[in-house]
Amino acid sequence: MMIAVLGSTGSIGRNTLGVIRDFSDKFNVTALSTNSNIDILSQQIKLFHPALICIRDKNSALDLKSRLNLKNIKLFVGEEGLEEMVQDKRIDKVVLAISGASALLPLLKAIESGKDIALANKEALVMAGHIIMQKATHKKITIIPIDSEQSGIWQCLSSEDKNKLKNIYLTASGGPLHKISRKYFKNISVSQVLKHPRWKMGVKISVDSATLMNKGLEVLETMHLFGVEPDKIKILIHPEALIHSMVEFTDGVILAQLSITDMRIPIQYALTYPERLANKLPNIDFLSVKKLSFQEPDFKRFPCLGLAYRVAQDEGTMPAVLNAANEVSVSEFLKNGLDFVSIPRVIERVLNRHRNKIAPDLDDVLEADSWARREAYQAMQKLRH
Ligand SMILES: NC(=O)c1ccc[n+]([C@@H]2O[C@H](COP(=O)([O-])OP(=O)(O)OC[C@H]3O[C@@H](n4cnc5c(N)ncnc54)[C@H](OP(=O)(O)O)[C@@H]3O)[C@@H](O)[C@H]2O)c1
Repeated sequence: MMIAVLGSTGSIGRNTLGVIRDFSDKFNVTALSTNSNIDILSQQIKLFHPALICIRDKNSALDLKSRLNLKNIKLFVGEEGLEEMVQDKRIDKVVLAISGASALLPLLKAIESGKDIALANKEALVMAGHIIMQKATHKKITIIPIDSEQSGIWQCLSSEDKNKLKNIYLTASGGPLHKISRKYFKNISVSQVLKHPRWKMGVKISVDSATLMNKGLEVLETMHLFGVEPDKIKILIHPEALIHSMVEFTDGVILAQLSITDMRIPIQYALTYPERLANKLPNIDFLSVKKLSFQEPDFKRFPCLGLAYRVAQDEGTMPAVLNAANEVSVSEFLKNGLDFVSIPRVIERVLNRHRNKIAPDLDDVLEADSWARREAYQAMQKLRH
């Protein structure tokens, strides 16, 4: 099977290439893409010999051309380049491991051109889940989730009647600030936030895990992937992070999906589905785990969770606004331009100013996204004064 890995230089992208290497008799890499990290991309080109590559940043693309002989490789550049590359006939499955809203348009193009999708990115579904899912149904495309919680739900539901679903339990490790009192949040540093207790991830999702916005985004992701109302999606803090999600049926039976905390497991499943292949990863040793614990999430310490449930009820363009305001605030926090407690404040201000458009089309979503980014910058300026 010929695989395109979009966002190949990131955490999920690199793990995906690791899995592909372990199953090199089954998978080939046809296409790779990065934003600007040509150092890692060069190494990946030498190892995987893709026919197609895309670099979003034009200067980085010129730099790579001067460094590497790209004979036999077609180079695409920029956002339009990526949208063109994903449609190439040689690609069977697209792994979408780009972070943030930039994944939306290439994802839609990949679906339109009939590729199966292994989806790690959650922001695109948050923004435009109804459009993505409608297009996928129309094109008879399978979108297999890579996000560990969604992969767990997918596996628990695979042979079940979805009409008999009562609740979905999304588990959350609690993130790096789980045991820290809110009074210390104002002075939390970027490095503290990036120290996740269980997962090694890209910087944006690491901040989202600390604010618990990541879990909020997953509520929206779950709604769209499985067609479930938000009031049926419950969050449980589960610090051991071994249960990745649970599904409860109308007869009171609950199915849970467990595995060690390693993204290579859901990535492998999304690549090999519907087959399960043996791998060399360690297994859960229940006797050393001893206990699995659960707690209620704290909506006061982590207001992003409440904001996510609010937009999940509102629908329309509100989720795209939440996502854009979150991306801007997180990026500013990472540059030390915004303190940690101001992230939800900025998002809330922007949401409060938005005039929701119900049943938006793609243009409405993109317009709401740009509007919310501008508003978020203004909200940050107001908070500073
Ligand atoms: N990491 C995890 O364990 C995990 C788990 C579940 C879901 N996810 C989701 O998977 C996605 C990727 O997460 P990650 O942790 O792998 O992120 P990451 O490490 O930051 O990697 C992001 C990748 O996307 C590329 N990229 C960033 N902005 C781009 C743009 N505007 N255009 C084109 N490419 C761009 C990056 O290129 P450069 O390297 O050049 O910046 C990099 O290859 C996110 O949506 C995240 O929520 C991640």
